[in-house]
Amino acid sequence: MSVLITGIGELTTNTEFGGDALIIDGTEIAWVGQAASAPAADERVDVEGRAVLPGWVDSHTHLVFAGDRTAEFGARMAGKPYTAGGIAVTVNATRQAADAELSEVVRKHVAEALRQGTTFVETKTGYGLNVPDEVRSARIAAEHADEITFLGAHLVPPGEDADTYVDLVRGEMLDAVAPLVRWADVFCEKGAFDYDQSKAVLVAAREKGLGLRVHGNQLGEGPGVRLAVELGAASVDHCTYLSQHDIDALASSDTVATLLPACDLSTRQSLPPARALLDAGATVALASNCNPGSSYTSSMAFCVTTAVLQMRMTVEEAVWSATAGGAQALRRDDVGVIRPGACADLHVLDAPSVTHLAYRPGVPLTRAVWRRGERVV
Ligand code: NIG
Repeated sequence: MSVLITGIGELTTNTEFGGDALIIDGTEIAWVGQAASAPAADERVDVEGRAVLPGWVDSHTHLVFAGDRTAEFGARMAGKPYTAGGIAVTVNATRQAADAELSEVVRKHVAEALRQGTTFVETKTGYGLNVPDEVRSARIAAEHADEITFLGAHLVPPGEDADTYVDLVRGEMLDAVAPLVRWADVFCEKGAFDYDQSKAVLVAAREKGLGLRVHGNQLGEGPGVRLAVELGAASVDHCTYLSQHDIDALASSDTVATLLPACDLSTRQSLPPARALLDAGATVALASNCNPGSSYTSSMAFCVTTAVLQMRMTVEEAVWSATAGGAQALRRDDVGVIRPGACADLHVLDAPSVTHLAYRPGVPLTRAVWRRGERVV
């Protein structure tokens, strides 16, 4: 089944392709160009001058969780600082939840994101922190999300010895989870894992054939960016507090700086230095960091709007970062772009241009969504 989409008022492809029409064939984009020269298709949909862009690529979420941290959020809004320790609250709830409950939480949030134009989702383990719960988190994540990351090194479980736990993560836990995931991640931060502990986990994961990611520089300057660049990680996520040396290192590397502005707002941190990263030549992605503790939103539009209004990114930069940038952070070239052969993941806005995402902050602008060629909104 092929569908010709016409009447595109503004087409964002993130590629050399352009025009006012495109054809979906099966699960892929088959053609992009001017409607006047479009090949025949089985069906035609006129989007009447609206903007079309790739579906959002959310490259950083933590969706395998149970429980609620509203009280912690309320306390933060009353002035209490965010610390890594809150993760333990979610670990307790997650360990107690049945598989079906966890699966429903992931399904619900992926569906919520899809309704807002997110067609590709990465999610992580990291609220299990023992072998059986990390394995089941990875298995349940894979039922609903597109890319899965092992985050056994999210926090040292309270009461456990850090070095003993690191040995478990890079040994038995990694052996058990590696077949279920593509990526490994560590939370390299004060209160979580230091440089040596983080490196030990990442090196072991790399030996198992996993791609690397790092949570770094979230709560203060630290070694996360340095470690990510040194090991050639695909992405270092948060990047809220960066030295000039970190910015220069990212700019001269292939490691994507993934910024999570909803998290920084929700934890009352500064917003990350997006402009300095872009001006230095670093590759920037934007992601939601949807999780119950530090960033409970699935809205990529909110992240884009914040990046434009408060982080001095242009609308075009922010949209690129939330689509092609997210794809690059996951080392994918088949999503986040519109070109023949790419996944038919499309987001139609109820607006004539992507500028409206920032021009009309907070207004739900998703009009239609195709995911892998299927119209879902
Ligand atoms: O990306 N930084 C570490 N992990 C999550 C927070 C998880 C939580 O607080 O539950 C993050 O913000």
